[in-house]
Amino acid sequence: MERIYLKEVDSTNKWAKENISEIADKTLVYTYNQTSGRGRFDRVWCNTGEDNIYASLVLKPSDKMKEVYSNLTQYLCVVLAEIFEEYGVIPQIKWPNDIQINGKKISGILAEAVSNSEKLEGIVLGFGINLNTSQEELGKINQSATSLNLETNKFIDKESFLSKVFDRFFLLYDRFLEEGFPLIKNGYTRRANFLNKTVTVRVFDNYVTEFAKNITDNGNLTIVDDKNNENVLLIGDIL
Ligand code: BTN
Repeated sequence: MERIYLKEVDSTNKWAKENISEIADKTLVYTYNQTSGRGRFDRVWCNTGEDNIYASLVLKPSDKMKEVYSNLTQYLCVVLAEIFEEYGVIPQIKWPNDIQINGKKISGILAEAVSNSEKLEGIVLGFGINLNTSQEELGKINQSATSLNLETNKFIDKESFLSKVFDRFFLLYDRFLEEGFPLIKNGYTRRANFLNKTVTVRVFDNYVTEFAKNITDNGNLTIVDDKNNENVLLIGDIL
């Protein structure tokens, strides 16, 4: 398990993808100055200053894609939620992998697979965490956001937070690859505040407003319409 620190980079995910053949399995690539971060659906991930975390885990579990790899974002989401709790806040998970505190986003996760003629080279699991952000910097973000220092009224040590992520992620990582989403299902659903409510989900350019019934054993979201028809969503964003 290795760590690569970059003084400044456009995007840790992009850098990790470009250099993946040189990077060992279970490596953490991180910076405190990311100039052009990207989020899911090609959204911008803002640089909110050097006391925040911009990082990517490079994983090379096998050279063929397996279904469980698509749940790694949810695994990381539970890991991050557990760490936030150590700081005395109550994180809530918004399917599939956003974490909110008091209804405001505090972290985001973006997984990208790198393949080379049918062969999976690796998975880049990027995460951004608002650790120490001023209200002014949060204003740059075009959605309701918060940061750990504002929620706790304390300055958060970024090195120590990052070490917790690294250690806790790899604690159960091998087991997660074997057992899949059921290993974390309780930890995930316990913190999922959108369940048993009517939610609006955006799936690419389509919007559906339906009842969020449950999370399946594969980490997918079951929604039910007013005629009791069930639909299982594999991708999307709860608004
Ligand atoms: C999202 O909420 O849409 C996911 C955001 C992921 C942002 C992180 S920051 C580090 C890594 N590098 C990137 O360019 N993106 C991810």
